[in-house]
Amino acid sequence: MFDCFQNAQPELHIARPEFGPAVRDVLSKARFARASAEIRSWSGYRPTPLIELAGIASALNVSSVHYKHEAARFGLGSFKALGGAYAVLRVLQDRLTTQLGHKVSFKDIHTGKYSDRISLMTVVSATDGNHGRSVAWGARRFGAQCRIYIHAEVSASREEAIRALGAKVIRVNGDYDAAVAQCRWEAERYGWFIVSDTSWQGYSEIPKDVMAGYGVMAREITSELTEPATHVFLQGGVGGLAAAVASTFYQHWGSTAPLNVVVEPELASCLMASAKNKSPTAVRIQRETLMAGLSCGEPSELAWDILEQSVSAYMTIPDDLVAPAIKLLASGQSGDTRLKVGESAVAGLIGLFCGALNPKLRDRLKLTPESRIIIIGSEGVTDPEMFHKMVTDDLPMDGAEPA
Ligand SMILES: Cc1ncc(COP(=O)(O)O)c(C=O)c1O
Repeated sequence: MFDCFQNAQPELHIARPEFGPAVRDVLSKARFARASAEIRSWSGYRPTPLIELAGIASALNVSSVHYKHEAARFGLGSFKALGGAYAVLRVLQDRLTTQLGHKVSFKDIHTGKYSDRISLMTVVSATDGNHGRSVAWGARRFGAQCRIYIHAEVSASREEAIRALGAKVIRVNGDYDAAVAQCRWEAERYGWFIVSDTSWQGYSEIPKDVMAGYGVMAREITSELTEPATHVFLQGGVGGLAAAVASTFYQHWGSTAPLNVVVEPELASCLMASAKNKSPTAVRIQRETLMAGLSCGEPSELAWDILEQSVSAYMTIPDDLVAPAIKLLASGQSGDTRLKVGESAVAGLIGLFCGALNPKLRDRLKLTPESRIIIIGSEGVTDPEMFHKMVTDDLPMDGAEPA
């Protein structure tokens, strides 16, 4: 069941981070608390389950594996529901405050006090899928117009899911970076508001709010676990998810916070490149990875500031391990709860499988029979066609339907 992971040779880069001010201050406790109080008040809010995978832990010879299963997050299928939608609310609050010359509260927006003005505002974003879904959902929820830019290889079912939330979807001929460029250019020209999950020079407040939204997920974990984990395996796209989780854990657990391991596709390894260069470094995406949410060539500079001070190891994994990991979770062969998850959700888990089963990597990652692991299962099945392709081969489908 685990042979392919045992035999894989993922690249591992060990960093020596010193927890410093960025981990405390870039995403401050106050910013996390404000996001958390707001998002927890939304209708439909419910913490997602933290599922113990005892069968997998035993097969890997570690003490425990807890899997944070984000499939049911606000009905949108991924943790991204927390970030983009909250940032839309913050953007609208900011714009209204500027227009009106006095402070506008979240409550004013919820009660429709400024709905006429909001209906004239347009929020825009480029996306591989999940972030756009969140922005579109937030725009609909708060009454703004929305345009989402997707690149040439985003699947038809991801496109349809965004359109179903009322957004206008623009398909750009090119890759993710081309979609970002067109989005930025049009926003500037027409006075639209960009709600991006990645930051660049001069654009950081909104991505900070996106990441603060992700903090809700990390806080759910800290409030459920009675003792800190020793390791957390975090998939990396632009780095926002990893930065939000690392900051929250550090702010909560201090020096006993887990060791952070960032896992990326070999085909999109900008965080590994940044770690080796000790500064934010772009890579060229030559082929799209199956892990659509992680197909990012440029790190978020803001996220990088946090990761540089908090991540102990970077791994890159090949695409051919994605289907076996998805099948393993869906089949329940390990004796654990059967889980239906998407391609980008399993990167961290694959990193753990390879790291725990390969003696050299295990040693370098300081994995032992006492290790307590957290995996961020960042999405459920957000692309049903892709999921179907991945599991149809030879999945034993007896017993209960996966969650
Ligand atoms: C399901 C999923 N997991 C992980 C990530 C990576 O998040 P980040 O780009 O903030 O590193 C994404 C990004 O879109 C995603 O959709």
